[in-house]
Amino acid sequence: MVSRVIPVDDFDLVIFGGTGDLARRKILPGLFRRFRSGQMPENARIIGAARSDLDDAAYRKDIKAAIVEFTAEEARPAGDLKAFLERLHYVKVDALGTDGWSALKKLVRKDVVQAFYFSVAPSLFGAIAERLHSNKIAGERARIVVEKPFGRDLESAKALNKTLRDHFDESQIYRIDHYLGKETVQNLMAVRFGNMLFEPLWNAQYVDHVQITVAETVGVDGRGAYYDKSGAMRDMVQNHLMQLLCLIAMEPPSRFDPDAVRDEKLKVIRALEPMEREDVVRGQYTGNEDTKSFVEEADNPDSLTESFIALKIAISNWRWAGVPFYLRTGKRMKARQSEISVIFKDAPHSIFGQDVEHHRNILSIRLQPNEGITLGVTIKEPGPGGMRLVDVPLDMTFAEALGPDAEDVPDAYERLIMDVIRGNQTLFMRGDEVEAAWAWTDPIINGWRDRSDRPKPYEIGSTGPEDAAVLLHKAGRRWREIKA
Ligand code: BG6
Repeated sequence: MVSRVIPVDDFDLVIFGGTGDLARRKILPGLFRRFRSGQMPENARIIGAARSDLDDAAYRKDIKAAIVEFTAEEARPAGDLKAFLERLHYVKVDALGTDGWSALKKLVRKDVVQAFYFSVAPSLFGAIAERLHSNKIAGERARIVVEKPFGRDLESAKALNKTLRDHFDESQIYRIDHYLGKETVQNLMAVRFGNMLFEPLWNAQYVDHVQITVAETVGVDGRGAYYDKSGAMRDMVQNHLMQLLCLIAMEPPSRFDPDAVRDEKLKVIRALEPMEREDVVRGQYTGNEDTKSFVEEADNPDSLTESFIALKIAISNWRWAGVPFYLRTGKRMKARQSEISVIFKDAPHSIFGQDVEHHRNILSIRLQPNEGITLGVTIKEPGPGGMRLVDVPLDMTFAEALGPDAEDVPDAYERLIMDVIRGNQTLFMRGDEVEAAWAWTDPIINGWRDRSDRPKPYEIGSTGPEDAAVLLHKAGRRWREIKA
């Protein structure tokens, strides 16, 4: 395979919350992969910053254990792992106090790219941003990386944006939505804007409706307290599903550059119609002998939080008038399956007569598992017996089409971190986008709260509550199958 790794500038990456779950599970194993692919410059360093009383050696030991846990054995040769761990340093820092900041200042170089990853609770963002400045640690090439949840409503998101912008320019702020780092999500843009075939049909004249499904089999175990205050709407729809919807619905940007792309996404969010009550179905999973119910996992018997949501969304602009976008996402569902499907309209007239069943063309983009793109087309069933039509998929499963190259696809986090170092914000959310998304979700969430709406129960391993199916049946449509 030809190496397509593009070198990046020398950098110091400081991870606040460097001993936390995200750092251990995603950030450091991801960086290790980039290191192995040869993308990490010779002097680049990673500095863990957290409250624990550790030194470099203890931190390296802890991260070694994390990489061993989250990386397949054949992908972590001992020599590579040892060399990577030597890039790691640790500083004990009190985010709200004064301890550790001068040590950090001594360690972080000013003449390279500085990336400060805030892998901590949002309540600490302001304190850390302020200390990076007052201690004169952040230089001209400083960038900060923040994670969701970016606020829990419009007001808190605005406050968070203000806190960060008090110390950093918008061009230095990288708000991660890891769905934008997924290979297939970027492929969605390549398919739309790299081919002549689809874009002319990509509108209300030819598209019947769009479906976006992000089904998970995991529950909320371990994160019950967070999730109970959040629910599927805040945890998944306001960010990940909204971003997917934007990429499907946006106008072609003039260039694949940060503001051109984000301007177009923002226009979509602003064009979303306010939701009607009957266009939303919320669900909550019940338990069985083997698995706890949502309320048990959340340790809140009275919880009204949704672990599943389905929505019918309308976009009021010329391109999409009258085309519903159906979104659904949930925990403890039948299978892990994330997919975007564009369902095209029926052919206007059947030349084969009324008895011949026609099928619709469906362009389906599978995010996970088994990433790939399928286009359902109708052909004649081979052999005698008259004109019978049958659906066949033109299937581009990446693993098959690209062979070993498909295995080398970077994980969402590693790609996004390298984009931070490169200074490319295209796959990160801009502050106004996040605020617009909250402005749309707030009234829906407030409506449930005001009415004390109870989510509909659904069984573990199902496709969600029956009402979610009815949402489409009402219009003579049905959800794409979730295959176990
Ligand atoms: C996170 C949510 O942002 O995304 C989790 O907080 C969810 O609840 C996760 O499980 C899903 O990510 P992925 O990459 O596994 O689809």
